[in-house]
Amino acid sequence: MERKKVTIPALMKTKQRAQKITFVTAYDYPMAVLADQAGVDIILVGDSVGMVMLGYPSTLPVTMSEMIHHTKAVVRGAKYAFIVGDMPFMSYNASIEEAIRNAGRFMKVGCDAVKLEGGSEMSKTTRAIVDAGIPVMSHIGLTPQRMALLGGYRVQGQDASTAKRVIEDAEALEKAGAFSILLECVTAEVAKVITEESSVPIISVASGPYCDGQALVITDILGLTLWTPKPKFVKQYVNLSEIILNALRAYCEDVTTGRFPTDEHSFHMAEGEFEKLLKDLKLKHRSPPES
Ligand code: KIV
Repeated sequence: MERKKVTIPALMKTKQRAQKITFVTAYDYPMAVLADQAGVDIILVGDSVGMVMLGYPSTLPVTMSEMIHHTKAVVRGAKYAFIVGDMPFMSYNASIEEAIRNAGRFMKVGCDAVKLEGGSEMSKTTRAIVDAGIPVMSHIGLTPQRMALLGGYRVQGQDASTAKRVIEDAEALEKAGAFSILLECVTAEVAKVITEESSVPIISVASGPYCDGQALVITDILGLTLWTPKPKFVKQYVNLSEIILNALRAYCEDVTTGRFPTDEHSFHMAEGEFEKLLKDLKLKHRSPPES
């Protein structure tokens, strides 16, 4: 079957329980090409780029220009996946006008939608961005950009009153026009209620198996998130950091012991040109390097 670009109507079909949405983050061209070839539905250029690619201690320092730089690379690599640009901290919080303008910057470099963190308090901003013609994915539950307010990385919706708040957030954002909602670190029971009650695709990251789609950070899948022990919700499919480390050690050993490069990896002058060069330079005869 001919592959088509993933669109919002195609994503909406998952509400009929056809097939779950696959969702990964990507931050550069090669990972975007590979995620696209693997058939991933949604690629998020996540602000997690700050932590997993740029070495920041949190997502807060990430700027619009950093996001746009990485987004351009992902857009060049992914032909079919639906690409979402993650609005970084303070790119949509100070004013609605600024939020629309920054959301527009993601669309101008080829995104299909933007994502922003926050619950009901982001309804007005969400509505304004959607009204400007830009699809919005909402991100509720654990919202890392609001870590200071949340008081740490905590599972959201563990008791009835906080669960109710997450459910109300989802309702408000759907009403405000969000085409999809990402639930991060929400209890599986609450995620199930939201998925069943909403008419837009609900994506889980650390929120259990009952949602319409599943998201993971690509470096977690590949074993390239270097500094943390693997969290409970992550399924790591390969340990690329070990593979890369072994390859780099082997390279260093080959170079230091002279096993690489050899003639196999070298280029040569045309026949007779080396002798001509020696004569021209009036250099004493040396034998050409062995081939
Ligand atoms: O930036 C990010 O990686 C995210 C994940 C929760 C998917 O928002």
